[in-house]
Amino acid sequence: MATRKIVLCGAGFLGSVGSPRRIYRGMTVDIIVLGKHMASAIESSTTGAPRHVQISSRNPDKLLQALQKDGVSGRISAVPVDITKPGTLRPAFEGADAIISMVGLLNGTPAEFENIQCKGAENVALAARDVGAQLIHISAIGADPKSDITYAKTKGIGEQLVRDVCPDATIIRPSIVFGPEDQFFNRFARLSQYLPVLPVYNGGTALFQPVYASDIGRVVEAMTRGDPDIENEIRGKILEAGGPQVHSLRQLMHYTLKYVPRWRPVVSLPLSFGLLQARVMEKLPESIFTITTDQIKQMQLDNVVNPNPGPDHLPFHDFLWKHCHQIPTSMHKKVAGYVQ
Ligand SMILES: NC(=O)c1ccc[n+]([C@@H]2O[C@H](COP(=O)([O-])OP(=O)(O)OC[C@H]3O[C@@H](n4cnc5c(N)ncnc54)[C@H](OP(=O)(O)O)[C@@H]3O)[C@@H](O)[C@H]2O)c1
Repeated sequence: MATRKIVLCGAGFLGSVGSPRRIYRGMTVDIIVLGKHMASAIESSTTGAPRHVQISSRNPDKLLQALQKDGVSGRISAVPVDITKPGTLRPAFEGADAIISMVGLLNGTPAEFENIQCKGAENVALAARDVGAQLIHISAIGADPKSDITYAKTKGIGEQLVRDVCPDATIIRPSIVFGPEDQFFNRFARLSQYLPVLPVYNGGTALFQPVYASDIGRVVEAMTRGDPDIENEIRGKILEAGGPQVHSLRQLMHYTLKYVPRWRPVVSLPLSFGLLQARVMEKLPESIFTITTDQIKQMQLDNVVNPNPGPDHLPFHDFLWKHCHQIPTSMHKKVAGYVQ
């Protein structure tokens, strides 16, 4: 069977490996195996066609070295690209069977968001179309071109631009993603080291459905096997990726503290105070305490899988079970293993 070339464009947390990791707890070092994120899930799969994984971002060598140190074998390479420079994409994608488009931003100016999540996503789609590769685009739950939150708005416009170029593209929209090095549980665990309380705004009642990075990795592995039935099933579809549990933001704060473990009160502050705080923080250099107006607004909105999906949606849990024989992984089983 011919080896397929799979490009992880924007391999960072979600595209990287999750096993093994060294976790330092005071004097002891735990070496834990937490599962496989996308690169290793695809590279090590014995189902379907053998695959060569190319990780592509502006500086992919660091990630390649980390993957190799973690034991990922030779069927992996690194080729630099910058999605804001279309000329770098076409040569890097040459010969690819599938491109996973993953570059996204958490903080930035509206122009930076537009450059990456709209124009950049479109550039990747154009290059994927040029080389005739299958495209899997990673967006986010809440993506909405009409949103007044820049992150959600540019994710929504990005999806439209990708669809215009590649109508057959598959879109995955995750809720919060957890796994070693995630930017949610790790961040709040670290904040609890410095702050006497963990703040939520306006009660912290918005709902979230944390999904395990390795479950997304498994799904992408199945999608890139080169199985014509799976390719037909996912063509032009949207998968909203959520985990097995739905929790409010306030509950997630309590769970984070329980996993660490550390005792801190979770305190609800008025939304107006949060927005004022964000306006000040946005003007200061970025740090662990940085919170933006957009993020405060985002935290007021439910971030869960649509309970009434349209005909263009494919249920993530069903796909995970059908093609990977896996039930969605609970955060309760994993997060305590890596937060500190
Ligand atoms: N993590 C979550 O909880 C979550 C939730 C919902 C949706 N998502 C979406 O999932 C995707 C992946 O998220 P992630 O957490 O894995 O992000 P991440 O860790 O920030 O990784 C993104 C990678 O993109 C690369 N990159 C940045 N600018 C680039 C450019 N101009 N050209 C090429 N590469 C560039 C960066 O590597 P270099 O520095 O080497 O370029 C970075 O490592 C994003 O689209 C994100 O919006 C994530």
